[in-house]
Amino acid sequence: MQNDLIIRAARGEKTERSPVWVMRQAGRILPEYRAVRASLSGFKELVETPDLAAEVTVQPVDILGVDAAIIFSDILVIPEAMGLPYEMIKGKGPHFPKVIERASDIDALHVADGSELQYVYDAIRETRKRLDGRVPVIGFAGAPFTILCYMIEGQGSKTFSNARRWLHAYPNEAHALLEKITASTIAYLKLQVAAGVSVYQVFDSWAGVLSKSLYQEFCMPYLERIAQEVNSVPRTIFAKGAQFAMEDLMASSYNTVGLDWTMDPMQIRAMNPSKVLQGNLDPTVLYAEDEVVVQKTNEMLSSFSGGGHIANLGHGVYPDTDWRKVKLFIDTIKTSNNTNQ
Ligand code: CP3
Repeated sequence: MQNDLIIRAARGEKTERSPVWVMRQAGRILPEYRAVRASLSGFKELVETPDLAAEVTVQPVDILGVDAAIIFSDILVIPEAMGLPYEMIKGKGPHFPKVIERASDIDALHVADGSELQYVYDAIRETRKRLDGRVPVIGFAGAPFTILCYMIEGQGSKTFSNARRWLHAYPNEAHALLEKITASTIAYLKLQVAAGVSVYQVFDSWAGVLSKSLYQEFCMPYLERIAQEVNSVPRTIFAKGAQFAMEDLMASSYNTVGLDWTMDPMQIRAMNPSKVLQGNLDPTVLYAEDEVVVQKTNEMLSSFSGGGHIANLGHGVYPDTDWRKVKLFIDTIKTSNNTNQ
């Protein structure tokens, strides 16, 4: 591997600088992505065609110069593999024609063994071939609670109140659903590792709608099982908006904990100095003048000093961001003389 910075940093080793990648770097912002996407019937065709998925996975490595590629796919392939297919509606986002409405719907769900998602492993293998050792490939999956949110709500939501309702009104059924999602996710991540991902990230995008005690009951045991069972590569947990969960996540079996831009690296680092932290520039900084982007990126880097760091935004890059600002963010990190640790 010519550039294994992210693997070394994720293992907790001291590196010459913080490695950098950007959540949602594949797709969204690059004209080259839009060109590939325009020739297709939809998002799913791109996800399910390994050659094309590999092409857009490699684009940010070539164009932006990131230190890792993240495989182009979506967290919603897991509900689909379990029997709830998703649709991606232009301008609106995901939609599930069939959702979980009663306990018998959970009984009817299939526990995925991973073989349903062969196109993802094929895309990983094709990506590795095209990268030819330039940078590592990051795998990913949704956290069980975030996947439960989509399976119950059938689409995005500000409050996910229907999903939260299940935690209180039908806790046993909610646990049964989380068990099935967790088993499916473990099988899926193991096959991603077998196909060649060097690290993986679990996205708990809707963690922020919970409380500390709900997180401890309905998230931590499942997240912990994933990290313990898929343990042959370094792993990252990113629980957006979940300040209340940081003590638990910093004591978990994940090597790296992702921070959003509302979180204070110093305060979180103090909970467990041996963990690697990832993040956390506010993605809206990238709408500012170049000088501001450089200044805020440098401030972000120094806020992580004193321990392991993987540079990233505090959430996915927004779709209307100018890709040149993303490149400026990346170049700033690559040329800064910060030492990781
Ligand atoms: O990071 C990457 O670049 C790799 C690819 C990736 C996608 N989705 C591609 C995608 C990853 C890692 C994801 C994860 C994902 N998907 C999450 C967790 C990350 C986060 O942002 O919190 C979530 C919640 C989803 C569900 C999802 N998929 C939503 C809500 C949407 C619609 C809005 C949006 O984000 O654009 C998607 C669609 C989606 N997933 C697109 C892409 C490139 C846009 C599809 C298009 O080209 O039309």
